[in-house]
Amino acid sequence: MFIHKNTCKPRQALSDLSTSLNRAPDVFFAPTASADQYQLRVNLNEYQQLARQALPKMYYDYFTGGSEDQHALRENTEAFKRITFRPRILVDVSKIDMSTTILGYKTSAPIMIAPTAMHKLAHPQGEVLTAKAAGACNVIMGLSFMSTCTIEEVASSCNAVRFFQLYVYKRREISALMVKRAEANGFKAILLTADTPKLGRREADIKNKMIAPQLKNFEGLVSTKVEDDEGSNLEAFAARSFDPSFSWKDIAWLRSITKLPILIKGVLTREDAIKAMEVGVEGIIVSNHGARQLDYVPATIDALEEVVLAVKGRKPVIFDGGIRRGTDVFKALALGAQAVMIGRPVVYGLAAKGEYGVRRVIEMLKDELELTMALSGCPTLTHITRNHLTHGHG
Ligand code: FNR
Repeated sequence: MFIHKNTCKPRQALSDLSTSLNRAPDVFFAPTASADQYQLRVNLNEYQQLARQALPKMYYDYFTGGSEDQHALRENTEAFKRITFRPRILVDVSKIDMSTTILGYKTSAPIMIAPTAMHKLAHPQGEVLTAKAAGACNVIMGLSFMSTCTIEEVASSCNAVRFFQLYVYKRREISALMVKRAEANGFKAILLTADTPKLGRREADIKNKMIAPQLKNFEGLVSTKVEDDEGSNLEAFAARSFDPSFSWKDIAWLRSITKLPILIKGVLTREDAIKAMEVGVEGIIVSNHGARQLDYVPATIDALEEVVLAVKGRKPVIFDGGIRRGTDVFKALALGAQAVMIGRPVVYGLAAKGEYGVRRVIEMLKDELELTMALSGCPTLTHITRNHLTHGHG
């Protein structure tokens, strides 16, 4: 079956498609863009346009959307635009060093791949290609608990440093098993996503009757098959599976089943930053889940400093949400993040041009960060300070 661009196929057709995710590469591509078109794309937002051309509407909407009114989604990018620079001049910037160390792992830049679900909906080879691109660019890859390639496939396909994102299922033994598999396959940290006791209301997915494929990681353990014909299949699956009772005291359980460092993803307040340190996690991720959970939370860039001030340098703070430019990366670093993660742009790169597309997205962002550092007088990451921004009390 061939899915044409920007069409929303009947549910049954897509259901067939989603059970055949390992088919030939042309299954998903609407090959509208020429080689030239890829090379001429000079920024991340342009890759979003390519992804839009390449994907069926149902999947494009799934990757792009936020929850409810999508206020937080707009804010995640808009808030960056309200922050301006205080650049320093006449600094020797003939050499720019963007490399850094995250949890002890050296990377080429303070940029990581955020865990996002179901990459085979963007490209038939899915997370394996994303991981290869991460390895080629020497950046850390976050693999989603809801990945379409298995933990083992991703591990054996790349040399990237990989962190494993965890959701806790009601059947906790399944989550425990995934943690064990990640650990056995060389993943270096657990990103515990803590903002998703239930799935946020993503209205496009409901209208499109979004279909989630059976995820190979869970084969024989739990079914992600369509059960009814109402609304978003993903939402129905999450409601069945995710454990909304999981709370701070249960971090001890996670600690008891893994030696890996644990980072809490989804912190937006000083109160929760302090709690996270009290329970002894190794890092904090300021994130609003790409504005897909609670709407009307602040843009993450507006929440970052509150968390950084509470953490006081005791633990690394990683940031995600709305990063589309090197200037955005710089702003997050200036507000105290150790590194940033990018979600949607990676998927757009993957949808548009597979591994090459993901590499281009990362390279473009790195190039922009390098230029931003040069133009604001920061030859290394340690030169970047709060004083380089005018936002707030700057
Ligand atoms: C996500 N995100 C996410 N987070 C997570 O912990 N587990 C997951 O499975 C997913 N899946 C997922 C799918 C899609 C399509 C999106 C867009 C996002 C959230 C992700 O890790 C990250 O927080 C945001 O994507 C960051 O925002 P940007 O970069 O997309 O603006």
